[in-house]
Amino acid sequence: MTTYLVTGGAGFIGSNFIIYMLKKYSDIKIINIDSLTYAGNLDNLSDIENKSNYNFVKADICDFDAVKKIFSENDINFVVNFAAESHVDRSINEPDVFVKTNVFGTVNLLNCAKNSWQIGEDKYKENHKFIQVSTDEVYGSLGEEGYFTETTPLSPHSPYSSSKASADLFVKAYFDTYKMPVNITRCSNNYGPYQFPEKLIPLMINNTLSGKKLPVYGDGLQIRDWLYVEDHVKAIELTVQKGVYGEIYNIGGNNEKTNIDIIKNIINCINEETGKNIDYNIIEYVKDRKGHDRRYAIDASKIENKLGWYPETKFEDGIKKTIKWYLDNAKWLNNITSGSYKDYYKQMYEN
Ligand code: NAD
Ligand code: TYD
Repeated sequence: MTTYLVTGGAGFIGSNFIIYMLKKYSDIKIINIDSLTYAGNLDNLSDIENKSNYNFVKADICDFDAVKKIFSENDINFVVNFAAESHVDRSINEPDVFVKTNVFGTVNLLNCAKNSWQIGEDKYKENHKFIQVSTDEVYGSLGEEGYFTETTPLSPHSPYSSSKASADLFVKAYFDTYKMPVNITRCSNNYGPYQFPEKLIPLMINNTLSGKKLPVYGDGLQIRDWLYVEDHVKAIELTVQKGVYGEIYNIGGNNEKTNIDIIKNIINCINEETGKNIDYNIIEYVKDRKGHDRRYAIDASKIENKLGWYPETKFEDGIKKTIKWYLDNAKWLNNITSGSYKDYYKQMYEN
């Protein structure tokens, strides 16, 4: 049975990946290793947690013994490394943990995979590969024109994006030096079910639904290229199956929006869905984020041409589905904002 080691599978994209893969394929096994930080939530996986081809291991990706044990007890074909500290604002306040998880954790995974997969000098077991799930933020910030391609020089600005860029360079080094089978994917901003309400879209949905102000950083005219999470998951599926060793694939929605447009769109959709009449005056302009990147936009033509991927979900449909999901899953949101995550959430977002 093809076996996946998914790291950070209790987080937003990792849980969407596990659910999608286990619903689509009955002949694979998934082991999910997650240390369950504030962002990891096993509720995300309740639909599949009892499947016999799914295992959860609570452990830190930096823990050599724990990761080594997984490799010695299983023939892991594919590592898909989602585990990370992923929020820019937190990285500005507390960079160290980003270096630990995102850089040291990735190197620890690379070492354990290499030890298990290598069968000779520069030779590895067939059908084994390490997928590093990275971000477009490693490229830095764009002006009004142009797109990030896979050859755009790395120029990260935040501690988060710098730690992801460092991890990417280690993954590349393991390919260049040891010929280890790897791919790196660099995706734009995701949205969809199970996203922790610290990121723009779920934070704005949560605040609108609970009658709070919507904090817009700076002038609100920063641009992100938004992609529905299931489209990202499908791009990773294709990268696992068809990605050429050592290659980097950019993934993006071809869907640039300013933050303020996103926020107004969310208010409009919530009004439509609930029959409420919430006014734009809940929007509050606040102090800008330090080192705030102005514009991200991905050129995804390589993965489109080489692997046959394309973004299937139109933003207008994806945002409606997402808002409906948060409305239908008020219990999930409530557990974060008032339940077991309450103290963390209050300290971060309600002071
Ligand atoms: P997330 O913060 O929702 O989830 C991260 C998961 O990793 C959590 O379950 C957390 O418990 C786990 N984790 C953190 N530190 C760990 C450690 N030391 N050991 C084991 N598990 C640990 O993140 P996400 O939004 O799902 O992002 C997943 C990956 O995708 C990240 O690597 C991120 O850089 C990348 N990415 C995210 C986006 C986006 O828009 N969210 C876009 C492009 C790339
Ligand atoms: P975020 O979801 O944190 O993703 P990233 O910074 O990794 O792109 O933020 C998306 C954009 O929204 C970014 O330009 C910062 C902005 N933003 C706000 O204006 N207010 C907020 O409360 C948050 C969380 C983000």
